[in-house]
Amino acid sequence: MNTLIALQQVDKSFQQAANDSPVLQDIELTIHDGESIAIVGPSGSGKSTLLSIIGLLDEPSSGTYLLRTQDVTQLTRQQKSSVRNEHIGWIFQNFNLIASMTVLENVVQPMRFNPSVASSDYVARAEQALAQVGLSDKKNSTPDQLSGGQQQRVAIARALVNKPSLILADEPTGNLDQKTGEEIMALLHSLCQQGSTLVVVTHDEKVAASCQRRIEILDGRIVNDH
Ligand SMILES: Nc1ncnc2c1ncn2[C@@H]1O[C@H](COP(=O)(O)OP(=O)(O)OP(=O)(O)O)[C@@H](O)[C@H]1O
Ligand SMILES: [Mg+2]
Repeated sequence: MNTLIALQQVDKSFQQAANDSPVLQDIELTIHDGESIAIVGPSGSGKSTLLSIIGLLDEPSSGTYLLRTQDVTQLTRQQKSSVRNEHIGWIFQNFNLIASMTVLENVVQPMRFNPSVASSDYVARAEQALAQVGLSDKKNSTPDQLSGGQQQRVAIARALVNKPSLILADEPTGNLDQKTGEEIMALLHSLCQQGSTLVVVTHDEKVAASCQRRIEILDGRIVNDH
């Protein structure tokens, strides 16, 4: 299996917490293409911090982060943001859709920051992503006109539209009922089968069990990985 991501001896501290122990310590993590991975652990253990580092929204205090073979800790802010736009799709617990935009406009948004997509292709690609999540008929609705599950499907379409190699989801089913959560996970796993790599932070054991690999974090350390 090809290595997508390698974190080596990654530590993370926040200045505000100078007296506390680091939020992440000694993280050694290799992620391969096509894997589905659940990150579990108690509240405050460092799961979201780890996901933010993987997703290039935050950076390690020390250690190495290789994406493919590139050391991304050496990139400028601008280079990082273009790597993020090109390679990574984010999904959040609260969907994070823009309320004043239609569903279609929300899905178009990430392509505006991706120079490899021509603006003449925006609408067709957004419509294709919406078809993939079964929401073609809602493209002109606004997020407040949709159910939670539908809003999360829009967020998934938005995460897909740049065809990322890596999908990161922080509690994607946290605001959904059991059945809708299962539908969302089925959708994420189907993307995984089409070649994306999936990393999901979750408190839900069923969600974790649906992934091939489970990483347990405790007090900022990986204590289990199988
Ligand atoms: N920007 C920040 N500044 C200072 N401390 C932070 C910051 N972000 C996170 N922390 C601290 O890092 C620790 C881990 O936080 P993190 O959000 O990664 O936990 P988590 O495992 O995702 O928890 P939850 O399950 O509640 O979402 C917490 O103690 C938190 O207070
Ligand atoms: Mg969290």
